[in-house]
Amino acid sequence: MSQSAPSNSESVASFRNPRAAHDFVGRSCSISGVGSYVPEQVLTNHDLEKMVETSDDWITTRTGIKERRIAAQNEFTSDLATKAAQRAMEQAGVTADQIDLLIVATITPDMPFPATACLVQQKIGATGAAAFDIEAACSGFIYGLEIGQQFIMSRTCDTVLVIGSEKLSSIVDWTDRNTCVLFGDGAGAAVLQNRPGAHGLLTACMGTDGNKAGLLQMPGGGSRCPATVESVASRLHFLRMDGKETFKNAINAMYTAAIESLRRCELDISQIACIIPHQANRRIIDLVAERLGASPEKLFVNVDRMGNTSAASVAIALDEAVRSSRVKRGDLILLMVFGAGLTWGAAVVEW
Ligand code: UT7
Repeated sequence: MSQSAPSNSESVASFRNPRAAHDFVGRSCSISGVGSYVPEQVLTNHDLEKMVETSDDWITTRTGIKERRIAAQNEFTSDLATKAAQRAMEQAGVTADQIDLLIVATITPDMPFPATACLVQQKIGATGAAAFDIEAACSGFIYGLEIGQQFIMSRTCDTVLVIGSEKLSSIVDWTDRNTCVLFGDGAGAAVLQNRPGAHGLLTACMGTDGNKAGLLQMPGGGSRCPATVESVASRLHFLRMDGKETFKNAINAMYTAAIESLRRCELDISQIACIIPHQANRRIIDLVAERLGASPEKLFVNVDRMGNTSAASVAIALDEAVRSSRVKRGDLILLMVFGAGLTWGAAVVEW
């Protein structure tokens, strides 16, 4: 990791951009590249009609999802992450040897240990990077951005690769219609760099409520309930969710986080050009936007094509928004996430 003492000109605190605490002492956390990758195989609602008692109409009306991507049997979270990372690095013009830190946010690591980030480090050849995973469920990508930003602002790192990657199909109970219609696989990545004066990550905020950990969890596979014949027979190694309660909490949490991040930047929702919420359910997205007073055309939505890809969700959406020119240089973007934990967060990015 590169560390440098502050120069004289940097030693005086300066807030060149009044909105951006990130301009402190001449450091700035910019997003210099984004990338994503989703597997080729498409699983449609009509395919699911043949697997469980459901209908395209029910899934579309209740969630907005029409299809989702499913990774191949020999394609793992680290493989998805690697492809997304390589695309982000290409866009950023960054080579593997420049990466100081590599963070993978995931709830579906290749294995309990070593961290998936270590496997990705090997695959992309980032031999000089420290690498670790974070587990904040669907909120993981914003948690990762915030952590990466802190490493950059503290002068510990100049270039940080943050990846959200999931193979949720490996922990979905394909006999449970309550959950199996919701999730998909994929990965998204962002390269964070210290670029004084450049646009970037203005703020990121995070929240947690462990009292509600039971709303969305996978009970088996940890120290509390290691894998046994009984735990497998009881289907404890699949995710479980209280959908209705999770739904209510998602709206409150994303709204609160969004308001807090806007407040920190002294921004009003009308100044945001593009809103990228966690893609779990179209109804949640619309209700949060309504509560924020945001016009619907500002929303970026891909839940119809991707389903809920947890930590990869807003990362994939951000990449799609950038590559489709839905966001342009100078635009203000609001990211909002929510997930198991419960965890939530929001970030404001000046693109
Ligand atoms: O990423 C982390 C955050 N995740 C979320 O934010 C997800 C939050 N929750 C949700 O998106 C929604 O609660 C769901 C989409 C999961 C469910 O929608 P809902 O409107 O809350 O439906 P429900 O759970 O109240 O279920 C209504 C009915 C039930 O039947 P009964 O008991 O009323 O007879 C379910 O059994 O719909 C039934 N149902 C289904 N029917 C057809 C549940 N899943 C299905 C299905 N197909 N796939």
